[in-house]
Amino acid sequence: MKKGVKRFSVSVPPELLEDFDAIIKKLGQDRSKAIQQSMRLFISEYTWREETSECAGALVLVYDHEVHEAEESLTDLQHEFREIINSTLHVHIDERNCLEILALRGKVERVKELINRISVCRGVKQIRHTVIELSN
Ligand code: NI
Repeated sequence: MKKGVKRFSVSVPPELLEDFDAIIKKLGQDRSKAIQQSMRLFISEYTWREETSECAGALVLVYDHEVHEAEESLTDLQHEFREIINSTLHVHIDERNCLEILALRGKVERVKELINRISVCRGVKQIRHTVIELSN
C-alpha cells in the first residue's frame, strides 16, 4: 500500500483558480483537500462498472453558441449517437449561452463515448451527467 502524499503541478486558467479559491475559502478548506475531493468526485463520476451493460440517464450541457462550429459539432454528434439519445431539450439561456438536456439510454460504453466527445467540443463550458445502470 502506498503511503504519504504526491505532489504534482497543474496548469489552469487564472479565472478558474480564482473561482476555485473563492469557494474553498468560503468552505474553510485548503486547496489540497479540495483538489482531493474533486478528484474523488471525478473518479466516481467516470467509474462505471460494466462497459457492456445498459444504462439510462441525463446529460446536461452549457455551451456558447457563438463559438465557431460549436452548434454544428454538437448537432453532428447527436445524429451520430441517435440510437442512445431519446430526447433533447434546448433552452436559450441568454444571448450567447444555450443549455441542452439529453435523455440517454443505451450501452454504457456508447454513453461514455458520447460524454467524452461532447466534453472536448469547442464552446462547451459545462457538462454534467447523471447515469444509472440498468440491471439486465
Ligand atoms: Ni440556444
